[in-house]
Amino acid sequence: MYQTRIEKLSRLLEKDQIDLIAINAGQSLAYLSGLHFHLSERPTVLLIGKGGKPAIIFPEFEREKVKDAQIELTPFAYPENPALWAEIFEKALNYFIGKKAIIGLEPTAARFLEIKLFQEASDAVTFRSAALMLEHLRMIKDEDEVECIREAVKIAQMALERTIPIIKVGITEHAIANELVINLLRCGSDPELPFTPIIASGPNSANPHAFPGNRELKDGDFIVIDWGARTKGYISDITRTFVLGSADEEMTKIYETVKLANETARSMPVKNLLSENLDAAAREIINSAGYGDYFTHRTGHGIGLEAHEEPYIAPQNKTEITHGMIFTIEPGIYIPSKGGVRIEDNVFASKSDLMTLTSFDRTLKIL
Ligand code: CO
Ligand code: CO
Repeated sequence: MYQTRIEKLSRLLEKDQIDLIAINAGQSLAYLSGLHFHLSERPTVLLIGKGGKPAIIFPEFEREKVKDAQIELTPFAYPENPALWAEIFEKALNYFIGKKAIIGLEPTAARFLEIKLFQEASDAVTFRSAALMLEHLRMIKDEDEVECIREAVKIAQMALERTIPIIKVGITEHAIANELVINLLRCGSDPELPFTPIIASGPNSANPHAFPGNRELKDGDFIVIDWGARTKGYISDITRTFVLGSADEEMTKIYETVKLANETARSMPVKNLLSENLDAAAREIINSAGYGDYFTHRTGHGIGLEAHEEPYIAPQNKTEITHGMIFTIEPGIYIPSKGGVRIEDNVFASKSDLMTLTSFDRTLKIL
């Protein structure tokens, strides 16, 4: 599986000006090698050249860990003394193409630290973005990846079921978030959650990316809960909105509008479907209910090893939806100082339909 990914990437490289791709510690490195490294003050860089021969630059003391790689790697280990690191970068460059290399970087993971080391190793290196190539590769999920995401959905849904009984008048958002995190871990999530759960109540729910605070829940509050689990590196990202006690008439109308927008987008046939069509399907429902100005974000985003990746389900995005993509559908309406509603599901594109992986009930639940 990892070997296939390397081969696919090197085929993309053959068609490109980039000589080699340098990938920092993080999700793409794990995706291509099976090695899990965090960004730290010491560089760990996976290098892939044309012809698919990969190498890795890493700290000497991680040699045992590097042996766990799922692909064959030429090792370039450096000692603790930072003064000697550039020399190892130079050796690695020479192993590939020599010093006049065009290096492809991942814009969201590249750092000054590694760029400077490459520049110290050679004054003839230039850098380009390799984002498109990596996104293209990671966007289409294989069967194992789909299975992991299904599992991450299951874990997340189970964790919320267990958390709902504590949601009552007087409890704080923060306390609900803590309980949800504990339940996610107990239900089997990896310890590294994809993101801090959002628990946004009452007027706070009008902020799509609210951080759980010390507000105590009141009767009539709408509560937006956006949470996810991670398993074998893969994540889920779900949102449900609940109401406490009794629902106000306008908020109920908003809820039903968002629910219909979510359903409409999820039931689009996949044939000739572009990202922007999906976004428009949800947006038109919200526009025609008169809330267009209050749907302030895109309709969804891809999920996988990261909580936000391609394809982005957004206006003007011409990416064609194809078999193997997994992304969120998450329309929302946010009325400042009143409250908000978002319903977020995870869908898998088969050849003909969008299959919804999330099954948590979407009817307005009064807690
Ligand atoms: Co979310
Ligand atoms: Co999301």
